[in-house]
Amino acid sequence: MERLQKVIANSGYCSRRKAEELIVNSKVKVNGQVVSVLGFKVSSSDEIMIDNKILSREDKEYILLNKPRGVVTTTKDDKNRKTVLDLIDTDRRLYPVGRLDYDTTGALLLTNDGDLTNLLIHPRCNVDKVYVAKVNGFFNKDSLLKVEKGVIIDGVRTSRSKVRLKKYDKKTDTSIVEIIIHEGRNHQVKKMFEAVGYKVIKLKREKFAFLSVDNLKSGEYRYLTVKEVKQLYSLVK
Ligand code: URA
Repeated sequence: MERLQKVIANSGYCSRRKAEELIVNSKVKVNGQVVSVLGFKVSSSDEIMIDNKILSREDKEYILLNKPRGVVTTTKDDKNRKTVLDLIDTDRRLYPVGRLDYDTTGALLLTNDGDLTNLLIHPRCNVDKVYVAKVNGFFNKDSLLKVEKGVIIDGVRTSRSKVRLKKYDKKTDTSIVEIIIHEGRNHQVKKMFEAVGYKVIKLKREKFAFLSVDNLKSGEYRYLTVKEVKQLYSLVK
């Protein structure tokens, strides 16, 4: 059994002081009954409501996955294909933050923290996403500048990005190009290259914000540290 104000604060809903205020102001119910005295104790099976909304007491989990190719970024697939959640051993109901295509690999965040997810996928969210694409042919300077300035995809111009030619392989006539974007539109990187006449043959997201998958093998994942979670919040607040 734990004190009600501590349980509320530990859920991440608010500070302990604020929780005490809510209790004293009769905003909190335990199993349907208003509790307005401090010191009331609850167990993990008690249902807590604040302003008539059930308090989620599930611990938050944050995972960085190095997504392999051939896996869908949904919680369930109607074609019964393997999903990113099949790769993770957890009892929590996690959701991917944004999407990577079936054939795209790399950094994918999964969490049950809905607040952080909403902040990160908001169109105004400015976190960097670093992709490395293998495209056909020599990726020339003119195309590079066009992509950087913004190209029209699905009728809307993409915002400024940073693009760098990393390598050109004469033998296979393919280029390796790094592109850093803020947005997260559907098939965005593939469509940006398509807009200047290049086909993406392979695509990897090397970094989501400051989180890189350099030390994770394909299909491997790790938990974020408390510091990293705080850092993510500070980027989007
Ligand atoms: N852009 C794409 O085209 N595909 C992805 O999976 C991610 C970004």
